[in-house]
Amino acid sequence: MKTLRFNNEDELEAIGLGTWKSAPGEVGNAVLEAIKSGYKHIDCASVYGNEAEVGQAFQEALKQNIISRDRLWVTSKLWNNAHKSEDVIPALKQTLKDLQLDYLDLYLIHWPVAFRSDLEGLPQSDDDFLSLDEVPIIETWQAMIEAKKQGLVKHLGVSNFSIPKLQDLIDKTDDQPEMNQVELHPFLQQDELLNFCHKNNIHLTAFSPLGSGDRSAQMKADDEPSLLDNDTIKAVASKNNASPAQILIAFHLHRHTAVIPKSTNPGRIKENLKSANIKLDEADLDVLKNLDKHYRYVNGKFYETSDGKYFNIYDE
Ligand code: A2P
Repeated sequence: MKTLRFNNEDELEAIGLGTWKSAPGEVGNAVLEAIKSGYKHIDCASVYGNEAEVGQAFQEALKQNIISRDRLWVTSKLWNNAHKSEDVIPALKQTLKDLQLDYLDLYLIHWPVAFRSDLEGLPQSDDDFLSLDEVPIIETWQAMIEAKKQGLVKHLGVSNFSIPKLQDLIDKTDDQPEMNQVELHPFLQQDELLNFCHKNNIHLTAFSPLGSGDRSAQMKADDEPSLLDNDTIKAVASKNNASPAQILIAFHLHRHTAVIPKSTNPGRIKENLKSANIKLDEADLDVLKNLDKHYRYVNGKFYETSDGKYFNIYDE
């Protein structure tokens, strides 16, 4: 399995299990099946609302000696309502408690967006947001660094950060993010961001690699293109004796990023991990490259305030 190497020589297996949208009652089994099938990298977040059940699965896997803690890589993410300096470590400690772990391998700022500390769920009005002047990213980042100093997390990163936001953070800290988790797939290749991150020694993780067809209706556009049903991807799949999902996952291994396909189905969990064996040739990579159309499935519209003044997430 391809790995991403960090400055301290830690290695992250490139294919991980995503847990966004994995329902309570299913996610624990999915995580246990994944670890039994050979996954060592599990991607979590407090806002997914399922970390306690994921934690039970980790306990089970560790108790049954299916994996040891030092071989398991667990990522989680700080939710938007805990960006204030004093809220970061308590939020991380709650995640650690839910996941039944002493430390995380990687902790990410989930979005460059801050909410009021007492807000549960998504904002209902403009008052639910805190502006980046009120809670600058660097304030949140310094609390993340403190969490690392305390041994609560080994590596730090961000998610959904644009080049200007990464550059701004890099300019303000000596302890820069080691990871940026963003939406990536053949319809949204983000080459400029990929090159910027790689030049600055920041790894990338691709979320929604299969198009996240199980998003809620209000997060979906009526005319969304489908990755899994795309004729070009299907043709590359049949040429390689693989499934479309496997091609969509292997695509990222060729771009030297991590990728976190979500599944709660044991067969598909195994199928997705086997993408590691697929070697796409230059012709395959060329046709996939030509599919880029800068299409976002997760477009961040749910963060727009009525006057649009708070957050321009992607700086586009
Ligand atoms: P399921 O959980 O039933 O397997 P993403 O990772 O982009 O968020 O996409 C997740 C969606 O893709 C889920 O609906 C998931 O369904 C589905 N999925 C996961 N693996 C595969 C696969 N190998 N083939 C087809 N669909 C898949």
